[in-house]
Formats: sequence, C-alpha cells, structure tokens
Amino acid sequence: MTIIDGKQVAADMRAELKLKISELKDKGKSVPGLVAILVGEDPASKVYVGMKEKACIEVGLYSKLDRLSAETTEAELLQLIEQYNNDEKIHGILVQLPLPKHINEDAIIEAISPSKDVDGFHPINVGKMVIGKDTLLPCTPHGVVELLKRYNIETKGKHVVVVGRSNIVGKPVANMLLQKKAGANAVVTIVHSAAEDLTTITKQADILIAAIGVPEFIKSDMVKDGVVIIDVGVNRVEDSSKKSGYKLVGDVDFANVSEKSSYITPVPGGVGPMTIAMLLQNTYSAYLKLK
Ligand code: GUN
Repeated sequence: MTIIDGKQVAADMRAELKLKISELKDKGKSVPGLVAILVGEDPASKVYVGMKEKACIEVGLYSKLDRLSAETTEAELLQLIEQYNNDEKIHGILVQLPLPKHINEDAIIEAISPSKDVDGFHPINVGKMVIGKDTLLPCTPHGVVELLKRYNIETKGKHVVVVGRSNIVGKPVANMLLQKKAGANAVVTIVHSAAEDLTTITKQADILIAAIGVPEFIKSDMVKDGVVIIDVGVNRVEDSSKKSGYKLVGDVDFANVSEKSSYITPVPGGVGPMTIAMLLQNTYSAYLKLK
C-alpha cells in the first residue's frame, strides 16, 4: 500500500512554479497577480486565505488580500470585482466562499471575468470543462486529477466511483475524469445520499473518490481489495488528547480502509495541500492567456 503524499506533490509543484516565475522576473517581465477577497470573519475562510497568501509569497506571485467587513453590500463587492477585472496587475480573482447571507453568491461568481476566474466556478468555465475545452479548472478536483497523474495511477477504462455530488468537488471531478484525454478517460459513477444501495456501487470502484463531508463514512466493507482511495474530506472531530481539542479526519476510515487499498491519500496531507498548489498554477495559466 502506498500513501499518496499530497504535501510533497504540492511542494514540488510550488517549486516548479517558483522557477517559472523567477524566469519571468529575470526577463524583466511582470509577474502573475492574485487577489483574494474575504468578506466577514468565517474562521475556516481566514485560515484558507492566510495559507494562500503565504504560498503566493513563497513562489513569487504578486499577491493581494482584501479583507472586507461582514456588512459589505453586494453592490460594493460587485464594484470591487469590476475594478479587478480591469486591473492589469491582477490575473486571478478569488472571492472566498461562503459569503454572508445578504450577498448572492451566484451573482458574485458570474461577475468575475471568466479569464480571471481561478476557482473555475464561473458557469462559462464550468460549461467549457463539461465539453472538454481547455479552461480554468476548479482547484480541489483538479488537484485530485493531478495527484493520480503524478503517481502514474491508470485511469483509462477504470471504474471511478465518486461519492458526493457537490458543485465544488463531486460534479467537477467526475466530469474531468470522464473526458477522453490522457489522465482521464475513466468510466465514472457518481453516488450520493439518495442511493438505494451505495455499497454495491462503491465495491465496484477501482478508484474511489470520497467527497461527502461525513467523518470516516467509507468503511472497509464498502470497498474491494486493491482499491485506490482519494479522500477529499476534511472534518473536525473532538479529540481531548489534542491541545486544540479536535483532530482532522477525512471521509474515509483510514485505519481500516488503508489495509485493503493499493494507494490512499491521508488527511491531512493528501488532497488538501493540492488545492492551493492548483490555485497558484491557475493564476499562472490565467496570466499566460491574458498576456
Ligand atoms: N471555500 C471553500 N473552498 C473554497 C474554494 O476552493 N474557493 C473559494 N473561493 N472558496 C472556498
């Protein structure tokens, strides 16, 4: 059994990007720029945005962070996005979700120029992804595909079972792996909470992608021997032995499922670190296209 080291792969990707950016600097060119917009005080969002900021600085991207109060109006946010849509120093715009309830998330996502939509959430980019066109892909599912590639895990003709149907992970990862392309071309099934017999389906998986948001939901009797496990879940569960009072677990019962698997991603240190690596890569891709 091989533990997929997402932390290492993400570090490799950042190092590759750092090199490309230093080459731009050596040539006297401008560097890719990313702005993150955080509205309000959501603690998990603050952590994510802080990690993003650190990673940007490490690879040499131009990075900007706008912290706005929870009282910011939708009109104000729309105006700010318009300003960045027209800002030549900015190639990627990330509006951290969730937004406060009085702001319509769909309206905000649709206001971001699709060419600067480094989250890959704009309906134009989602549509392009579905029909297999080259576009900015959402970071977490793109990170999953990249991990499979870098570990030379064959996907062509394999049965990938995606557990979960969110717009951020389940639906896009299923679509990406379905494409008739290298690193994809899989037979894909999506299962979710309404499935009558989930286990019959998950047991057929050559590659199982868990993106449900339920701690340790996938048990060893739900998978076959030799399965590849990609665990996208990040769940806080109480743990009195930790100083913080909690620990992070995935959507997979790692201790038991790992015994049956050929490859498995840990939590933390699996898919998680890939999200930011893909965000930085998307910013670089957007920069190359906008130049
Ligand atoms: N909130 C949780 N995950 C994400 C993400 O990938 N992008 C944005 N913009 N917000 C998030």
